[in-house]
Amino acid sequence: MSRRPRRSVLITIMQVVALVGVGVLYVALIINSFQNGGKPLTTLTPQGPNAQTIQNLVIPVFAVAGVVFVLVFAAVLYIIVRFRSRHTDEGEDEEFPAQTHGNTVLEIGWTILPAVILAAIAVGTVITIINLEKREPDSLKVQVFGQQWWWGYKYDVNNDGSFDSPGDITTATEMVIPAGRPVELSIGSNDVIHSFWIPGLNGKKDAVPGEQHFWKIQADEPGVYRGQCTEYCGLSHANMRMLVRAVTPDQYDAWVKNQQLPGREPSADNPDAVAGEAVFKAQLCSSCHLVRGVNDAKVADPAKGVKSLLQSGVAPDLTHFATRGTFAGSIFNSYTPQNPDDPSLPGNPADVNLAGDPGNALYGGDSTPYFFVKYTVGAWLRNPPAMKPAYAKPDADGKLRGMPNLGLTEQQISQLTAYLESLK
Ligand code: CUA
Repeated sequence: MSRRPRRSVLITIMQVVALVGVGVLYVALIINSFQNGGKPLTTLTPQGPNAQTIQNLVIPVFAVAGVVFVLVFAAVLYIIVRFRSRHTDEGEDEEFPAQTHGNTVLEIGWTILPAVILAAIAVGTVITIINLEKREPDSLKVQVFGQQWWWGYKYDVNNDGSFDSPGDITTATEMVIPAGRPVELSIGSNDVIHSFWIPGLNGKKDAVPGEQHFWKIQADEPGVYRGQCTEYCGLSHANMRMLVRAVTPDQYDAWVKNQQLPGREPSADNPDAVAGEAVFKAQLCSSCHLVRGVNDAKVADPAKGVKSLLQSGVAPDLTHFATRGTFAGSIFNSYTPQNPDDPSLPGNPADVNLAGDPGNALYGGDSTPYFFVKYTVGAWLRNPPAMKPAYAKPDADGKLRGMPNLGLTEQQISQLTAYLESLK
């Protein structure tokens, strides 16, 4: 009798190979996920105590899931081999397996065990949530507001419970915090639902119109922590990033002092910037954007060619634009390092991981060795909707979402760029 390989043996081998393949792929994915430190949006490399609190829940849950995974895979492998079909091509049937019905011990076991595991995970989850909601003494208070499609920040500098008293700071796109100090956030939205998420520092918290949600972040070390809006909020949802710049406490104090100043008057030996300020005042820029001391309600004077704010708060505050390393929802770098081949030239402005380091311009000083990227800022002024999708035409309510193309001349663009560069 010929001994051709039996089809049932081949099927068993294929099943085992497929199962082992899926298992290896799965384990490789998990190992890779835990090794992606340095990637800006990894959730598995905590860089502050709140993210660590979450990690302390993730690891044991992953471990339990891993044990269950190994046991289930091993059981399936065993069953595939042990109870494989023994039918043959020649049709020599084996005995029908013994039939059983009901196994009280097994049935109670596989009901109770998962329930116990899920209950343990539930207890850990609730404890984690309670810890993440705990208020911190000596925390810095920052109000966060989401807008289509950027983030604004108000600092309660004097800690009087208000974000609008003298000395308080309003900024946009980048949040500067002192490393090592807890920061309590009050998160809201001025239009639709967004979600605030800096994975290195904590989990997500939705920004809902009409609500203020408590959240907190803290960075262990100075550095740049990136985030991304995680609630679909319209055309440029994907272009709504967030960036937290943690600095030392001394640097933070220097940053606060500079942010409290009104917008700088461009110096007379920078005629482009002087002309740029005039363009800012006369053009539509000043209808939406604020430069404190230049077009606040108090100082705006249409008779002198200074437009007043028509839509206060709908566009980022530009008072200290050049202290920020990124702009337009943190998707473009406003600074770039030197070109490694020629230090007199700027390097690659598109390198996201450089996060547009502004150097000492962050505190109002000289940006050297970093370059202000006139090219990118100019391209933005030339045609913003081409750089970032927006509803740049007024909707039925007459509202714009995102910056429209203002039809600026090349001269106006280069003057405005010089002015923006001077706003440290
Ligand atoms: Cu804001 Cu999505």
